[in-house]
Amino acid sequence: MRSPIHCAWVFPVALILPLPALADTPATADDRRFPPTFITVEGHRDLSPEDWKDPRICGQCHTEQYEGWNGSMHSNAFKDPVFQALWALAEKADPSMRNHCGGCHTPIGISTETVKFHPDEPLHGNFSAPEVAETGVSCDVCHTISGTNLKKTAVLEHGNSSYILDPGNTKLASLSDAESPFHETGYSDHHAKSDFCGNCHNIFHPGNNFPIERTYDEWKYSIYAQNGIQCQDCHMVPVEIAMKVADTLKRPEELDEPSLEGFAGLGGPWRKVVHKHGFVGGNAVITAVMGRVDPDKYEDLGREGNYEEAVKRLQNVASLKLAVTNQDQGGPLHQVKVRVTNERAGHHLPTSLTELRQIWLEVVVTDNKGRELRRSGSLGPNNDLPKDTMIFNAHAVDANGQDTHFPWEIARFVDVNTIPPKGWKYAKYYFNVPDDAEEVKIVAKLHYRSFDQYIADKLLGKGAVKVPSVEMVSVEETYPVAALKTAMAAPADARH
Ligand code: HEC
Ligand code: HEC
Ligand code: HEC
Ligand code: HEC
Ligand code: HEC
Repeated sequence: MRSPIHCAWVFPVALILPLPALADTPATADDRRFPPTFITVEGHRDLSPEDWKDPRICGQCHTEQYEGWNGSMHSNAFKDPVFQALWALAEKADPSMRNHCGGCHTPIGISTETVKFHPDEPLHGNFSAPEVAETGVSCDVCHTISGTNLKKTAVLEHGNSSYILDPGNTKLASLSDAESPFHETGYSDHHAKSDFCGNCHNIFHPGNNFPIERTYDEWKYSIYAQNGIQCQDCHMVPVEIAMKVADTLKRPEELDEPSLEGFAGLGGPWRKVVHKHGFVGGNAVITAVMGRVDPDKYEDLGREGNYEEAVKRLQNVASLKLAVTNQDQGGPLHQVKVRVTNERAGHHLPTSLTELRQIWLEVVVTDNKGRELRRSGSLGPNNDLPKDTMIFNAHAVDANGQDTHFPWEIARFVDVNTIPPKGWKYAKYYFNVPDDAEEVKIVAKLHYRSFDQYIADKLLGKGAVKVPSVEMVSVEETYPVAALKTAMAAPADARH
């Protein structure tokens, strides 16, 4: 066992250097050794790929963790073809983006400076790295992160790979009494906290510091953080438990759930809580469309279990509520107001790449004679959304105010329409009810997709994939017209 991590011993080294040399101390020089990331290495060592172990080795004693991780977005963080394509465009626009993007998607590749770009490859080019660096955010990456550099970042907050690497024989996590025949173990409180995730799940533009992805920040100021609920409490437990965590605001440990129990490693004791390692979010594109690219390879891009769980998370995160009001004293014009509530995400809905991710409402109003009175948000023949669709996302522009989807160009968001944790947003639709109608039926559905067809065509090649959508939740109500016209006449406060 190793005592809790500390790096105070760095300072005596600085003291023996001539003063005033603070800006030139080894610690400071090391800070930006892989600029523009904030990665530092414990002891300022030079690292090589041999410093990290292949996840398959860990999997021999940590079968469950390996099965969850293999095929997860973390295991695919480097190989993910959507990432590779956007990274190549970034590299061509600004070569310093290689480290910036890679700092979170291949920590081993960047800290060993072994990533290579091949501009002559088809489409956008391709990056290669030693095999162990291709494993993206691997076991040994996470379990040898020994702390955070948040105080050194440009925004004094976690983000832009603000982690300290200390690869070696000591594996860190939050078990205080672990003993392993294969490696040393070390207790790390950091691993039990959202802060650990925040090192990568908060992204600001390395030039203008604009916060582009701020999942960690969104969580930090949410009701979940106020109640001590961490990212791990929802993303390292089965979805059924995550739902209970969100509903009760209790941590998994407090729920006394037998399904969380198990062995953390071969030969270790039975434990009350063993953490799942699939880290399932909403990504159904990579898991569904890319499928098993090579069934003989130990890692594959899409694990069915992870796909199903992503869908389940999406289907249990939001709720819809309808309210219909007459708009002109018994006349034909009506309004339906749809309330979309973020019931169970510990951050905004959607979060992260909010300029790309799409959550949208589809609303269809018909009468009892089958006439369509209003339709919005139905996908067109080219997998496109009509202009009037209510989409919950962010609208990004560059320094000149031009629309952009490229993270390296983003200067600001001109419109942010994401839904805060346990918060809601309204969408309003208007329709006329024909004189001879007796009933009106309203169907509202909430859908999710990782990005639109235009982005998929641009990044992966035209027609390479048809971006799938997941129906998250739907509500259907039938209203007698007479009741709509009289009893439900709009109260004044519902008109805005
Ligand atoms: C020969 C078997 C074996 C191999 C191989 C192995 N481990 Fe372990 N590991 C264990 C055992 C046993 C424990 C203790 C489990 C317990 O106490 O519940 C453990 C504990 C851990 C812990 C918990 C540390 C703590 O203090 O919280 C981590 C993290 C870990 N291993 C990571 C890894 C990683 C990463 C690899 C691959 C580089 C790996 N292990 C390879 C057997 C192994
Ligand atoms: C994205 C980072 C990440 C990756 C990748 C990752 N782990 Fe973990 N792991 C964690 C965190 C965080 C915890 C502790 C969670 C807590 O205490 O709340 C943990 C806990 C553990 C534990 C301690 C037992 C437990 O359930 O708390 C073991 C053992 C372990 N991981 C092994 C592995 C192995 C093996 C792999 C690769 C197959 C792996 N981890 C990949 C972040 C990661
Ligand atoms: C600070 C860490 C960090 C940096 C820097 C970073 N990313 Fe990411 N990236 C992430 C995380 C975390 C996700 C997952 C978010 C999610 O899925 O909701 C992600 C997701 C993505 C995705 C979506 C993949 C998919 O299959 O949907 C793309 C594409 C991507 N990143 C490209 C880039 C590019 C290009 C850069 C550099 C300009 C970059 N990233 C820089 C952490 C980072
Ligand atoms: C070393 C950087 C790093 C750390 C640490 C890290 N992540 Fe990630 N995470 C990523 C990247 C990069 C991706 C996206 C990979 C891609 O889509 O290509 C990702 C993807 C995810 C996804 C999947 C998103 C989706 O679209 O389905 C979830 C969920 C997630 N991370 C949660 C966590 C949690 C919880 C923690 C902390 C316990 C954590 N991550 C720690 C880098 C990291
Ligand atoms: C209360 C439970 C809960 C907590 C706490 C929580 N999440 Fe999530 N998270 C969800 C749910 C549910 C989804 C799926 C819906 C969605 O995509 O937003 C999700 C989705 C995600 C995604 C995928 C988003 C996308 O659409 O690509 C990422 C990445 C993620 N979470 C990271 C984190 C990180 C990092 C933290 C901590 C800072 C965290 N989550 C805290 C419940 C939670």
